[in-house]
Amino acid sequence: MSDGEGDVPMATVLIKQGRIVTAVDDYQADILIEDGRIRTIGQDLVVGDPVEIHDASGLLVLPGGVDVHTHLDWEFGVARTVDTFGTGTKAAAFGGTTTVIDFCNQNRGESPLVGLEDWHHRAASACVDVGAHMIMLEVNPQSLADMQTLITRDGVTSFKLFMAYPGVLMLDDGSLFKAMRLAAGHGAMICVHAENGQVIQVLVEEAVATGRGGPKYHSETRPTLLEGEATHRAIKLAELAKTPLYVVHLSAREALAAVAEARDHDLPVYAETCPHYLFLTNEEYARPGFEGAKYVMTPPLRDPSHQQALWRGLRTNDLQVISTDHCPFCFNEQPFGLKFSKQQGQQDFSKIPNGAPGIETRLPLVYHGGVRTRGMSLHRFVALMATNPAKLFGLFPKKGTIAVGSDGDLVLFDPNETWTIRASEHHSRVDYSLFEGYTLTGRVQKVFLRGQCIVDGKEWRGREGMGEFIHRGECGRL
Ligand code: URP
Ligand code: ZN
Ligand code: ZN
Repeated sequence: MSDGEGDVPMATVLIKQGRIVTAVDDYQADILIEDGRIRTIGQDLVVGDPVEIHDASGLLVLPGGVDVHTHLDWEFGVARTVDTFGTGTKAAAFGGTTTVIDFCNQNRGESPLVGLEDWHHRAASACVDVGAHMIMLEVNPQSLADMQTLITRDGVTSFKLFMAYPGVLMLDDGSLFKAMRLAAGHGAMICVHAENGQVIQVLVEEAVATGRGGPKYHSETRPTLLEGEATHRAIKLAELAKTPLYVVHLSAREALAAVAEARDHDLPVYAETCPHYLFLTNEEYARPGFEGAKYVMTPPLRDPSHQQALWRGLRTNDLQVISTDHCPFCFNEQPFGLKFSKQQGQQDFSKIPNGAPGIETRLPLVYHGGVRTRGMSLHRFVALMATNPAKLFGLFPKKGTIAVGSDGDLVLFDPNETWTIRASEHHSRVDYSLFEGYTLTGRVQKVFLRGQCIVDGKEWRGREGMGEFIHRGECGRL
């Protein structure tokens, strides 16, 4: 990863005549980027040589996407996600995402500071800018002190706490509360995976013991009630600890109701959902043979009534972010091996690595399904894709908007191009797409990272290692 010094000198870049859309603005102008930052926005800008000029007429100019939920090159139990930071962030870039916040984790018996060091080694190949959230596995006096160090020294200002996966990642309520209290005093954000892990474990063990081993039982053993219960519990603990709370990958109406109620009471509670919950339903688990394993992510896909509730939550601002939860495991064992593959769970759904890919399709899917199909405003689209996550996670205004002084992270987006999603054309190492064969209107044309054109149509002009680590500040409020 670049530290931003000693790289090749940055070109002066002029983007002409695009329709600039932010969370609040919509106008046509030129953008001049110098030294990686937006220097001037104005009409008919004239710049002396040398300057690299890009014609954006007919295109939307959007802030680079900010995806705050990815798992790159990540050990998860006995499995490992198949994208390296190099391949995963290249895929992100082709999908219009220029900033990723990825999850690193503490290992049992170790300091989270060691986990961060290990993450930095893996993240060195990133092609877009990256930050880190820390997953806490143990909460004790030393790890609480380490959390403080992560916030104040290391630019890691958000933590993920799991209420699911007992014995692997789950924390008890006392530990959740202690970690929340620490965050409260230091401007950090607590992210929760809210499902009742212990009750789910009972249901899973019973299913497996009675021969219900196929992928569809993943969904049947993780009822929406248990997501709702855990979300409510997390909110109450956060209220007591006086900390803001961010509920990750929210999928269920009951969980959304808990978030909405908290927000109605002026609590700083936020939530994201993911494209798979907005576009897919639990019917996918009825696919023949082992195909349903492709859709084994946690929480699982829900029935269509939940999907409608989520779209409504995006409209009413009870959901503020759409992120991908990109957690890619191949369907097939080859070429990367069983460790990286869903095939581990052929006989028993509880052994299927939980997670699905999506890092490359977030912007165009939501543009198509939200803006074109459901009347979402372009401003709301930009807010969900870039501005809100940047504000919530201490990146704004460096990231998440188009303004003088912000990084020159831009997406030139053709609102009229129609194309079809094909995993064979993706840049991730994963061997399938949840959205194979979906035809969308609206496509990423060019992507700029700090002024450098890294995606030009189908051409890759970026390079591994050019992404910078983002030392994040205090997490914000919306
Ligand atoms: O299935 C999922 N979501 N896998 C990634 C780990 C997590 O819970 O976010
Ligand atoms: Zn999770
Ligand atoms: Zn996740």
